[in-house]
Amino acid sequence: MRAMLCKAFGPIDDLALEEMPSAALAAGEVRIKVAACGVNFPDVLIVEGKYQFKPDRPFAPGGEVSGTVAEVGADVTGFKVGDAVMATTLWGGFAEEVVTTPDRLLRRPPTMDETTAAGFALTYGTSYHALVQRAAIQPGETLLVLGAAGGVGVAAIQIAKALGARVIAAAGSADKLAFAREQGADEVVNYTEDGYRDRLKELTGGRGVDVIYDPVGGDLMDPSLRSMAWNGRYLVVGFASGEIPKIPANLTLLKGCAVVGVFWGQFRRNEPQVEAENFRRLFELHAEDRIKPVISQTFPLAQARDALAVLAGRKVKGKIVLTV
Ligand SMILES: NC(=O)c1ccc[n+]([C@@H]2O[C@H](COP(=O)([O-])OP(=O)(O)OC[C@H]3O[C@@H](n4cnc5c(N)ncnc54)[C@H](OP(=O)(O)O)[C@@H]3O)[C@@H](O)[C@H]2O)c1
Repeated sequence: MRAMLCKAFGPIDDLALEEMPSAALAAGEVRIKVAACGVNFPDVLIVEGKYQFKPDRPFAPGGEVSGTVAEVGADVTGFKVGDAVMATTLWGGFAEEVVTTPDRLLRRPPTMDETTAAGFALTYGTSYHALVQRAAIQPGETLLVLGAAGGVGVAAIQIAKALGARVIAAAGSADKLAFAREQGADEVVNYTEDGYRDRLKELTGGRGVDVIYDPVGGDLMDPSLRSMAWNGRYLVVGFASGEIPKIPANLTLLKGCAVVGVFWGQFRRNEPQVEAENFRRLFELHAEDRIKPVISQTFPLAQARDALAVLAGRKVKGKIVLTV
């Protein structure tokens, strides 16, 4: 099989498409013939050796795929050869096949095509968990989404709207803000321009926002936290800016707010039943057309480097998917 391999941690340009033997299948494992693979920010980090997981080299990046079950190992129940599935694999997805375990699989609903399914689980799973379990967002509350035109940002806008919240989308350019509006945002604000806090104040009648969804971090945290309403929840989702901000503890006191961490992968492992219910609801919302994943670009597997460069260059709106 062919795979886009990382042989040593380093720049994404060093990835190489190579033939390699299929991995042996152990008991309890499932082999998936990959149809498509979602491209996510952690794929860049894992290749550069900056992610919380550091796989043995060589490995293929690629944290989520859609495809068909090609082989099941001994002791596997619940899945059989030919099943249409989607899987979150941490890595290994930029390849023609991937071996994983059944707890990482979801059945692909017939209402979702393979390309959409490859880019769905990680972003929508994260944003649903963040807004529902971590923030307990309520209808009528105001949500500020940072990095709103990116993968998890778009999912957060659409889910929050489906849950009855008012959404302020924040991003770094006019075309990303226009795109965020198309995803359902009620208001938009450019966080690279002066007057970011004033605009948030104006949009909330001086009250501040109830929930902040932050996958960007860096310098954005301080002014955003200062724009929080009483009893607010600040969701720490990621650090796409490359910088982990320090939290001014006095602000949490003054605002009476909570800073809440979101770690979807660990949540899945710790609370699989809650997670299964989340996806039941997400698939329902998708079938009802109330959430609409946006795959803005697809690339063939051989061009995975280009796909990662677009993502790292801050040029993606919605999601990129590799077709295999
Ligand atoms: N906690 C979890 O469980 C979890 C799960 C999934 C993802 N994440 C994390 O969430 C973050 C976003 O992931 P994603 O897939 O949504 O990424 P993405 O599609 O690339 O979106 C990230 C957004 O961040 C903004 N950004 C600001 N500074 C940036 C920089 N220096 N480089 C790149 N982007 C920058 C960009 O918007 P502007 O250009 O508009 O500023 C971009 O749209 C990542 O850090 C990822 O690791 C966390």
